[in-house]
Amino acid sequence: MVATLSQLFDNDYDEEGFRTCSVTGLEIHRTAENHVKLFGLTAVVAMVVGGIFAITVAMTRWELIGLIGEANYYRHLSMHAWNLLIFWLVFMEIAILYVGGPMVLGRRLPLTKVAKAGWVTMVAGALGINYFIWTASGAEVAPLLTAYVPLNIPTGFFASAIVFLVGATIAAVPFLATIWKEKRWGTDDTLPLVTFGAFITSIIAVQAILGGIAAFSYGLVWKVGIIETINSGAYRTLFWTIGHGSQQINLLAMITVWYFLTHVVGGAVVVSEKVSRSAFILYLFFINLGAAHHLMADPALGVGWKLFNTSYAFYGAAFASMIHAFAIPAGLEAGRRQRGLGGGLFGWLTSAPWRNPVFSATIFSIILFGFVGGITGVLMGQLQLNITWHNTFATVGHFHATVAVGTTLAFMGLVFFVIQTMFRRDFVSGTLASLVPYFYAGAMGIATLAMIYLGILYGVPRRTSSVVRNIPGADFSISAAAPLMSLFGVFAVLAILAGVLFLLVALGSLLFGARLERGDDAGLRPDGGLTPDGGKPVHAVDMRGTFAMCLIFMATFVVLYVLNWFLLVQLWSIGA
Ligand code: HEM
Repeated sequence: MVATLSQLFDNDYDEEGFRTCSVTGLEIHRTAENHVKLFGLTAVVAMVVGGIFAITVAMTRWELIGLIGEANYYRHLSMHAWNLLIFWLVFMEIAILYVGGPMVLGRRLPLTKVAKAGWVTMVAGALGINYFIWTASGAEVAPLLTAYVPLNIPTGFFASAIVFLVGATIAAVPFLATIWKEKRWGTDDTLPLVTFGAFITSIIAVQAILGGIAAFSYGLVWKVGIIETINSGAYRTLFWTIGHGSQQINLLAMITVWYFLTHVVGGAVVVSEKVSRSAFILYLFFINLGAAHHLMADPALGVGWKLFNTSYAFYGAAFASMIHAFAIPAGLEAGRRQRGLGGGLFGWLTSAPWRNPVFSATIFSIILFGFVGGITGVLMGQLQLNITWHNTFATVGHFHATVAVGTTLAFMGLVFFVIQTMFRRDFVSGTLASLVPYFYAGAMGIATLAMIYLGILYGVPRRTSSVVRNIPGADFSISAAAPLMSLFGVFAVLAILAGVLFLLVALGSLLFGARLERGDDAGLRPDGGLTPDGGKPVHAVDMRGTFAMCLIFMATFVVLYVLNWFLLVQLWSIGA
């Protein structure tokens, strides 16, 4: 029987509107749960739209197919980028704030009308952005994610972007009110780590959103003629507070999800609350400066400014990431060893619930984000190396490793988790659900690596619909890249199919999945329960498996760093 809308938004609540989650043991209020569902479902709709444009964009870059001509390529690319990078992720992030705040604290969501107003405003902004991208015509250009002035971007686009950002701010208010009430009238306890992570995410989001509103308002007043000239260098600097700021929100929300899901489905513990919290605080002070790495090839800014922001200051943020990269696997190793699950160097990992898609999606997200997205980010964020990456397909590879593989996989895991624990639906097919993370991580991982190689080794540029045979208007040919481009095309198709499979399983389970009875944990709870019963105290547990993985990570980093410098010095021979 198909689930109706009212069934999807209902559960067994007590008279006060609470119920106990059979997996996490959390006391969940109807208001928090329903808003998580609302924002989560909207995010999935955005994913469908962005995914459709993944097909047209990827099948154009694969020139053997060459689907879209030059004239329309930016329109499709803009639809792909805004719907996936912004709408899919930001709607999910508001849902994550409501999970990390009221749900983890066991409170109701305050100001529900404000939450709904935020949702309506965000949807209006998102529809407006899609409309103005799709209808840009004549002398107007479809605004890519960078939406730079003085390009002739539709005025309505700037207005819609402001509306969307205002909407996201409104939607975050009930979360902030939850934290304020908790500190004002709640217990004296410090906030749980997941709530703390969500709180830091919200502060960074506010900084990013204010920068975005400032940038788009500056563009808008220029477009409507209130000011005659616009300083494009100042605009670009302001723009990147939201352009990269939105990625910082993704990063922090994703790390918060990593802590949450490795705990509730893998049995991880927090090895040191103080160390993990300090890493979140480091982000607060340093990560915004990371935005500067987008401006490294910008002639308007001085070298000293670039060096300070991307080297000295930015290392504070990279250090924070290294701490989380150690703390999360270490927590998993410690928690599982405390329960006696698996001996040897990696027994705690091999004995883990790999058939559970929530767990596998989270772990693949951690590994691929760290090894591919993280390392390439630090490499291309360096002033000297940046010039070999800038505006090549390798840049596209880097951010697909972070957002399309890392964040998207973590959020796919979270969507599956919400389907089982909040919508209380079983998967229509457990086997297909288990397959999704392997299929998507494998295909998208290879497509991403292909993009990186195409950019670094062949110099294939980004954002153009035809280059492999010949760069239009130039004698320069990069046809040698054609075989690797075909490999990219095949794996892009497979990644799209994996995305389709995710959507079929997720939406199919919502509509046709069997209802999980009260108390049924759907096999999600880790072996030995949420908290280890007995066993050694955490500081006495051996974490040599994590240490070995950190050494492997370090070695990979060093090899890639040296390789990139080697490739850079090869440039001297150009023109010699
Ligand atoms: C099946 C999955 C996907 C495939 C095959 C795919 C493929 C592509 C391709 C071929 C481009 C064009 C690059 C260019 O011409 O420079 C692109 C751009 C882009 N993609 Fe994806 N993508 C996928 C998923 C995602 C996801 C999940 C996100 C975000 C969460 C994302 C974000 C972006 C962004 C932001 C751009 C860049 C637009 C720009 O340069 O302004 N993609 N993608």
